[in-house]
Amino acid sequence: MKDIALIYEKLKKDIEKYNHHYYNLDESLITDFEYDMLLKELEALENRYPELKSENTPTNTVGGVSSDKFSKVRHKVPMLSLSNTYNIDDLRAFDLRCKKIIETDIEYVLELKLDGLSISLIYEKGRLVRAVTRGDGSVGEDVTENVLQILSIPKTLNESIDLEVRGEIVLPLKEFERINIEREENGEVVFANPRNAAAGTLRQLDKNIVKERNLDCYLYYLVNAENYGIKTHLESITYIEKLGFKTTRVFNVCKNIEELEKEIDYWDSKRKKLDYETDGLVIKVNDFKYYEKLGYTAKSPRWAIAYKFKAEQKETKLLDITYQVGRTGVITPVAELKAVNVSGSIVRRASLHNFDEIDRLGLKIGDTVIVEKAAEIIPQIVKVELEKRNGMEKDILIPLNCPSCDSTLTREDTLVALKCKNSHCIEKVKRRIEYFVSRDALNIQGMGNKIIEKFVDLDILKDFTDIYSLKNYRSELISLEKMGEKSVEKLLDNIEKSKDTSFDKVFYALGIEFVGKTTSRIIVNELGNIENIINSDVERLKLCEGVGEKVAFSIFNFFKGEENIKIIEKMKKIGFTLSKEKEVITNNSFITNKSFLATGKLEQYSRDEIKEIILKNGGKYLSSISKNLDYLIVGEKAGSKLQKAKDLGIDILNENEFLEKLKKGSE
Ligand code: IVH
Repeated sequence: MKDIALIYEKLKKDIEKYNHHYYNLDESLITDFEYDMLLKELEALENRYPELKSENTPTNTVGGVSSDKFSKVRHKVPMLSLSNTYNIDDLRAFDLRCKKIIETDIEYVLELKLDGLSISLIYEKGRLVRAVTRGDGSVGEDVTENVLQILSIPKTLNESIDLEVRGEIVLPLKEFERINIEREENGEVVFANPRNAAAGTLRQLDKNIVKERNLDCYLYYLVNAENYGIKTHLESITYIEKLGFKTTRVFNVCKNIEELEKEIDYWDSKRKKLDYETDGLVIKVNDFKYYEKLGYTAKSPRWAIAYKFKAEQKETKLLDITYQVGRTGVITPVAELKAVNVSGSIVRRASLHNFDEIDRLGLKIGDTVIVEKAAEIIPQIVKVELEKRNGMEKDILIPLNCPSCDSTLTREDTLVALKCKNSHCIEKVKRRIEYFVSRDALNIQGMGNKIIEKFVDLDILKDFTDIYSLKNYRSELISLEKMGEKSVEKLLDNIEKSKDTSFDKVFYALGIEFVGKTTSRIIVNELGNIENIINSDVERLKLCEGVGEKVAFSIFNFFKGEENIKIIEKMKKIGFTLSKEKEVITNNSFITNKSFLATGKLEQYSRDEIKEIILKNGGKYLSSISKNLDYLIVGEKAGSKLQKAKDLGIDILNENEFLEKLKKGSE
């Protein structure tokens, strides 16, 4: 079970990382398809082991978070995602599921799934007053100023009405190419794909740049359309088209799945000729009267589904292999490719992830390879064209020495992990500092990779504690490209403030191999302070929940290293929080060892507070209804969870009943 929990955590963490890169850093680390498969795997684990499932699992959450750059706005109606399918059989299953629930034939509307970033536009008395990004689905960023620069979005409507419409902001392919040529000429980093370019453009602070970049916007959803006397999705789209919006609709109504299939084939080829990127089609039930019955998952409506197109593939040549050094010293081979245009962007490099991948592909330098890149993704080599070999190809030799510091590389476990063990290796130092300042760790905004790179090269940053001496290097910071005095002050301020971070995050920021956010929290909670952690042997560490041999050894070895102990000493001097009050678990005859879940709006406590109470009294808090649930606590407007609990015969309590029993249980 411990192993499963570890696998689950690792998978969850990976997905969280991909989400973070995708939604917040506007970059994709894996293909869409791979991402969807990982998510399906996580879902399968959660179904098999519901006790593992946590409230904030990526299968429940929409993905992004809103940053501090823009002010935050809570969406009146959450901005949901869509469930995905890649094949017609799944689509047929979707159709059957809908029909089974509705018990009649269903009409569908077909739309393009545009690959940009979603936006909610709010109009009051016919005037555009606010534009908000999706963020985490509940809270987004106010990007009104920037959205006002997009020509195709009407600023006033031809009716003086209040309304909220949602759609996708995209960067036309021609614009994408123009911008990238310009950036290349200016020596700037080129955008990897139009989606990143659109997201990066909309989420930056200079509205004039937005104006120059000619973004476009297509709408696909009118919020609370019923309030306008509208009965179907198609009517709502026709209505917003009349108001002056461009929409994603491509086909009026498909009367059955066969009609849908024909249209899908047509659009799969036609879309390649469009001037913006699409990663699929969206199929929506037309009639609103079925929506409530079909309902929603935590993430997406059950009345719609995205049919995603398979990746586009292109042929190119493998010119060379270079190597990247990661935070823990793992060496990642990278394919250097002859430039090729795949799905609208130029591909020059593709990560090979590890050395097994080279073996798996049977790759040689000089090979003709097939590169794949579904819409907004990082490119991948999927195949070697063996018949195109001419005998001049060269074997890829596994490096013996670190490409950065030249120290001898070691091999751990299998061939997969080739590592540089030199803790002074400059590339490793850079990666460790990047990790230390990253969002989940110390979250030092403004401390970008460029600054880290430069100051490590200047020997000013030798480890992450040196960040706290950067205040002595103001002039060096200011002289860095694009760093005005104001942004330097802001950065130094952020650095100072980061000293206040809680111990679990500080512990995570140390970057100990295999120690993620959850493990950090558990270790800190169980062992309380840094001295206890340093003094724990492997056996003691293994007593912590979810900590197995591998993690325990990693922590133990980390603190055996003299240099790491020195770093901890420095951290004490800087004034970091290196201890945490242990959470006292009290025994409660009602709560201990029972499982709970709260739903609906509670009166006296928030759901988080209720959860806290349950955990403090030795109970378990589940994230979904299953037969393992002992009690469902219900507040106002409890929805489908209540029904499901009733169906399963689970005990239901209102808030007062729960509090009463809690009180009795402690007597
Ligand atoms: S409908 C509840 N329709 O795809 C309504 N979404 O993967 C949910 N998207 O967040 C969205 N084209 O950003 C819808 N025609 C379309 C779309 C579309 C692109 C995006 C949107 C959504 C994401 C879900």
